[in-house]
Amino acid sequence: MELSDVILLLHPVIAIVVVFPLLGVVLNRALQVRQRRLTGSQSKIPAGVGQEHVQLGRWLTGSVVGIVLLALANDVLGNIVQHNIWTQEPFKVVLIGLTFGAAIASLMLLYQAKSRLWRGAFATLSSVSLIVLGSQDGVYRKTEQWYFSHYYYGVTAAVLMIVSLAILLEIYQDKTHRWRTIHIVLNSIAFVLFIGQGITGTQSLLEVPLHWQEPYVQKLYEQQCDKKPCTIQAPSMPQKPQ
Ligand code: HEM
Ligand code: HEM
Repeated sequence: MELSDVILLLHPVIAIVVVFPLLGVVLNRALQVRQRRLTGSQSKIPAGVGQEHVQLGRWLTGSVVGIVLLALANDVLGNIVQHNIWTQEPFKVVLIGLTFGAAIASLMLLYQAKSRLWRGAFATLSSVSLIVLGSQDGVYRKTEQWYFSHYYYGVTAAVLMIVSLAILLEIYQDKTHRWRTIHIVLNSIAFVLFIGQGITGTQSLLEVPLHWQEPYVQKLYEQQCDKKPCTIQAPSMPQKPQ
């Protein structure tokens, strides 16, 4: 396998090995937190489940944003290298690099921030950075089928995780449970989106070719071979020495 194929596979591998198991535990603890709160002091569920949900939830936010950045970096940087954008628009490439830096730095600062103003500012900055990076050339957004797009679901789920991290203190401080209800509603949506990511991601894996298959598959798409019969002749590829 080429290095580019290994880099392509890093995103799905981390999603399957790290993100989804983490999501399962976060969800399990979430249901226990709720059950314990509604049952009151007679509950047999240990008091630590709230803390476990939050600790693992913080990891979940970081890992989801991390794999989104990884996939976007692969798409955007791959496009820059393939089309030699650095020589044509170096300023644009620098700006893209800075946006990746801003996304990572603002998320790290969000983990540290205490005041409402800073949490709002860093959550906005990290979400906007993801959206700006996702709008770059090379990202397969599938906008015509946005309702079943791995990109739109993924970025929305990542932003919802960032929001969860940002409103963490409010959930505890608000005696009326308004923020708690907002958290439950938003993250129930996020959970459905994660299931969607499992489905659309697997579909993406079938659609994205390995490096050596690329010229052939490119021709299949160009000639719309899914709609009509066609014969493809791929451009010759440089042969690797045996
Ligand atoms: C898909 C992911 C998630 C789901 C489905 C989820 C769902 C829930 C549910 C059902 C509760 C219990 C609410 C109640 O007491 O009635 C809860 C509590 C809470 N969640 Fe989440 N959550 C998720 C991710 C996160 C993340 C990423 C964070 C923060 C980084 C977070 C922070 C909290 C906090 C602070 C509480 C209050 C815990 C307590 O009362 O001790 N959650 N969540
Ligand atoms: C937490 C779950 C996930 C999130 C938030 C997520 C998010 C994303 C995003 C934002 C992209 C870039 C847009 C695109 O190229 O479509 C992407 C690409 C991709 N994802 Fe996921 N994904 C998740 C899970 C998965 C899973 C489970 C798989 C496969 C089993 C997968 C396979 C892929 C593939 C093959 C690509 C294309 C990579 C590329 O072109 O560089 N993803 N993902």
